[in-house]
Amino acid sequence: MKPLGLHEIRSAFLDYFEHNEHLALPSFSLVPKGDKSLLLIGAGMAPMKKFFTGEAEPPAHRVCTSQKCIRTGDIENVGKTDRHATFFEMLGNFSFGDYFKHEAIHWAWEFLTGVLEIDPNRLWATVYLDDDEAFTIWNEEIGLPKERIVRLGKDDNFWELAVGPSGPCSEIYFDRGEEHGCGDPDCKPGCDCDRYIEVWNLVFTQFDKDEEGEYHPLANPNIDTGMGLERIASVLQDANNIFEIDAINAILQDICRMANYEYGTDKKKDESVRVITDHIRAITFMISDSIVPSNEGRGYVERRLTRRAAKHGRNLGIEGAFLYKLCESVIDSWKVQYKELDDNREVIARVILREEERFLKTLETGMSLLDEEIEKLKAAGENELAGAEAFKLYDTYGFPEDLTEEILSDAGLALDEAGFEKEMEAQKERAREARDDSDNIGWSSMSSYELNDVDETIEFVGYDTTEVKGAKLLHIIAGGEEVDQLGAGEKGVFYITPTPFYGESGGQIGDTGTITGDGFTIQVEDTQKTKSGHTYSIGTVAEGIVSTGAVDASVDKRRREKIRRNHSVTHLLHKALKDQLGDHVNQAGSYVGPNFMRFDFTHYEAVSHEDLRAVEKAVNEAIFQSLPVKTEVLSYEEAKEKGAVGLFEDKYGDNVRVVSMGDYSMELCGGTHVDNTAQIGLFKILSESGISAGVRRMETVTGPAVYELLNRSMGMNKKIAGLLKATDDVIVDKLVQHLDKEKGLEKELTKLHADMAKSKMAEEVGDKEAIAGIDVIRGHFTDVSVEDLRNMAESLRDKEGALIILSTVSGDKVNFVCASPKSLIEKGFKAGDIVREVAKIAGGGGGGRPDMATAGAKDVSKVQEAMDRVKDIVNAIGK
Ligand code: ALA
Repeated sequence: MKPLGLHEIRSAFLDYFEHNEHLALPSFSLVPKGDKSLLLIGAGMAPMKKFFTGEAEPPAHRVCTSQKCIRTGDIENVGKTDRHATFFEMLGNFSFGDYFKHEAIHWAWEFLTGVLEIDPNRLWATVYLDDDEAFTIWNEEIGLPKERIVRLGKDDNFWELAVGPSGPCSEIYFDRGEEHGCGDPDCKPGCDCDRYIEVWNLVFTQFDKDEEGEYHPLANPNIDTGMGLERIASVLQDANNIFEIDAINAILQDICRMANYEYGTDKKKDESVRVITDHIRAITFMISDSIVPSNEGRGYVERRLTRRAAKHGRNLGIEGAFLYKLCESVIDSWKVQYKELDDNREVIARVILREEERFLKTLETGMSLLDEEIEKLKAAGENELAGAEAFKLYDTYGFPEDLTEEILSDAGLALDEAGFEKEMEAQKERAREARDDSDNIGWSSMSSYELNDVDETIEFVGYDTTEVKGAKLLHIIAGGEEVDQLGAGEKGVFYITPTPFYGESGGQIGDTGTITGDGFTIQVEDTQKTKSGHTYSIGTVAEGIVSTGAVDASVDKRRREKIRRNHSVTHLLHKALKDQLGDHVNQAGSYVGPNFMRFDFTHYEAVSHEDLRAVEKAVNEAIFQSLPVKTEVLSYEEAKEKGAVGLFEDKYGDNVRVVSMGDYSMELCGGTHVDNTAQIGLFKILSESGISAGVRRMETVTGPAVYELLNRSMGMNKKIAGLLKATDDVIVDKLVQHLDKEKGLEKELTKLHADMAKSKMAEEVGDKEAIAGIDVIRGHFTDVSVEDLRNMAESLRDKEGALIILSTVSGDKVNFVCASPKSLIEKGFKAGDIVREVAKIAGGGGGGRPDMATAGAKDVSKVQEAMDRVKDIVNAIGK
């Protein structure tokens, strides 16, 4: 066995697979891209799901990586045992529709026994229950004795995430020796004891699991393998646990030096050292991937890890912040593979320091309060802290629940968790109630947050420009609170000044665009205004870590232009409607977006076609006249005097913004407009309808949208003309001709059907027979519809006063119809009963009313028999 160091093993692995024609990719970010099913990357294949499913083309069909991973499922146990960790590296080789089981097994074996020189006699393999192919490869090709190949079920040997690529797997185990075992003579991989440790998982990825848990076979079988770097290092270094591995132990020793403590001399302190050793790696790597502490999602995971590590530092007697220094050791060691650590050295230290300082403050206040509570509980002989008390610590002092629990547990006490949950729910309910109802775009937790202390004026400069260089990002809000930083992939609310982004108001929707700063970009998805009128933008951090300070802001110009056209046209439309329909018409609301405009107005009846055309024409004429658009700020009185139209819900202050378009229209308005009506291009009304008593609604489009509409409808005309083999100008005449012809043909067809049925009836219906003292008529057809068969049966029944039973065969289907006149129903000859019995003989069923019933059957070969046995059935009833 080669006693290689952690970093050497990683290189050996990547070199080996590169040598076997794999492309060695750098580790993907810990932040999943475009995958909402995961918070953090926790397996080598997770960032490559799309390559497995075929949704995206991989850079090569053979790839290998050393992927940074975080799994937090066992966070409570980290430190308590020496086996658990949150951060680890996964070595993996992948085949995207290239090689399969044979190569995957051979290479894994060669790497372990040939490159790492592990004794083959100490290796075992497991295979999925019925995977004989893998079993044979291990046994016959590799030469692994049958006794060292274990078949295991789905729990052990089937690999999957919540959704995505998955499949059966084969695992390789290392036998650490009898002395680590449970003593059971039957002990083997799969046993719970420490003797066999899994080092490598080879997944034969054959399925794609969807959100409903259904497995869909993949077009090409793939290979996904995962070997925990720390696991294999502990094997090679004969380490008893991950904390004894060279590079990791170096961090552990650094912590001990900081705390002036000798590892192994105090059980509790050892636990703290282990927590910090694990967590500092996780935190350092997370920040290098632009994740920063917050109260939600990944940011919360990081906050929890940082705070937990900080708290354990205090257990070791370390005073003040220290993690921000410790991260240097991680960076220095791991930068050999992960360049991003070195590139972000300063940011990492800064982010950690800020969080540590914040936490230490919280801790001080919280600890003294919690200590008091603990004393009180002990004095009272109680052993549980009330949920309400713990919630107060959380809500008022930001003291995390898990920390309270941990401190209580150190003191031998417990937390009333149900009580805590109840308080939490009650608070959420209060927040829900306080929320602004108008917020219906899914940003509730963020946009409901009003900054009480925006002292600064937020200046809106978007009337004149769509770009601002050197604006200031004043506040960042995420998860309902103000934060100093926000990491990649996180959503937030951003207050910048001066801002070119228009906040939704007066029917005009908010602007979108980008905000960029030192190393970061925010994708602005919406812009709103607080109740007190401050504009803020809502968006997602596309890259980097956002912090307050200098930024550039840029509005999506094309979208804004479309919005401007649609807004200006509301003024023209308002005026045209008043001119055409009367002064009683007033705007009653609007939606002004990039793709269309909706205009609600007061009017007592549907607008006639002629009026609509006249209004549309008037608006277009105002556009063609190229009226200059002017905005000015006037006193309310002045504006009124000049005859400006006021919108229904505007709250007038002393001064108002007045928008005029030539001499045609003058309105109070805060929106963004074109400079000249000609820029609107063209206007088209799509629909007009009533929405409530006295209120009508129009949907309209302008400029490019009208052009597209025109293109579409002309395209359609062309297509129709082509189909009719006519030119555009005569398509209507041609269509009328076609429709007339169709009507004639339909009539003819109906008649033809009736004639055919009649002639068939004459041929195929038998004579009246006397059975059981009543008249019976039987008949058999082929390819007659059930509909026609029913009609025949009915008319025969009424004409002849007999019991009618008809059958028809179409392809491999049989249908029976039975009709019985009233006089025979009274005697017990019910159509429903009879048809059921007859159909049964041909393997079918059915039934219905006593006077008319139908049934279907499948066995065509039995139709004759069924019809013959009508005699017996009728006789049986007649008895
Ligand atoms: N995806 C497999 C695992 O994580 C290799 O175990």
